Amino acid sequence: MNRTKTLTLAVAATALAASALTAQARDFRLGLITPPQHLWSTEAEAFAETLAERSGGEHSVSVFPAQQLGNEAQMVQQLQTGALDMAFLTIAEISNRIPDFGALYAPYLVDDVDHAAALLRSDTAGELLDLMPAGVGLVGLGYGMVGMRQVLSREPIESAEDLEGLRLRITPFEPIRDFYTATGAAPEPMPLLEVYDALANGQVDAIDMDFDSILILKFYEQAEHLLISNHMMFPMVGVVSGRVWRELSPEDRELIETAMGEHLENVLTGFQEMDAAQEEEIRQLDLDIVEADAEFFAEAIAEWEATWAEKAPMLEALREEAERLRQ
Ligand code: BEZ
Repeated sequence: MNRTKTLTLAVAATALAASALTAQARDFRLGLITPPQHLWSTEAEAFAETLAERSGGEHSVSVFPAQQLGNEAQMVQQLQTGALDMAFLTIAEISNRIPDFGALYAPYLVDDVDHAAALLRSDTAGELLDLMPAGVGLVGLGYGMVGMRQVLSREPIESAEDLEGLRLRITPFEPIRDFYTATGAAPEPMPLLEVYDALANGQVDAIDMDFDSILILKFYEQAEHLLISNHMMFPMVGVVSGRVWRELSPEDRELIETAMGEHLENVLTGFQEMDAAQEEEIRQLDLDIVEADAEFFAEAIAEWEATWAEKAPMLEALREEAERLRQ
């Protein structure tokens, strides 16, 4: 066989393989840590329905909530090898691997959930997603979030000094660990689904948490003091394994990106819409409530900034964007 003929056959075989790839039906697996009733989980299920519908039943997505596939660090490893296709991940685990994402946790970077959602929809936050393929081997398709962070505790917290020595549950990631260490508390990294028991058995004195989780996981049953501080936002990112992404046809990438983007947007608007009612519901509970602002945490914030301005150079651009969005 001459060289031209061999090449032609090779090209035809590649084209055939590519079209087989295009036509290949897939059952994707999507993992996340939130319980089934959480908005992240219900929107993940809704994304699965949208993708099945828009692909004419060719593709499906099996959703694994409540850490069924492991914690986020383990899911990131599975995504990197291609053993897991997709996930909705807190930025926490991503910031452990790409420090620039830590900038999203700058204390009082945003004022409230509307401001947080606007920042996450901005091109500046979008630029962070561009760091993910090289930084962690994942493709970030967009942001979601939960509400702002608060502190629920077993004993009253009326001043920053009351945080001294408190065993305080945090989501396992460095920017929040550094923030609470700077307050003098003893941060205890712990996954969301272990928090109720840890509060109940006295393993921790206080928890860093959002209104929604306090309500749906009933943490208020185990601690009766709430510091409404709104000290940080808490973003999530919808990701696809970089390995899996490379195997997909341009049409499938477009389909997945659009559908997941729509459901992540539902998460952002969902938390914007729920926030005021959730705060009201919490204020109606029998909790002792104290309010705090940036002044309350002034020393800890200064210490945090000194570390993270250097570690996360994107902080400056995000701050400028957050300021623009205030105007
Ligand atoms: C948390 O670790 O506190 C958390 C994680 C995901 C959703 C809500 C809260």
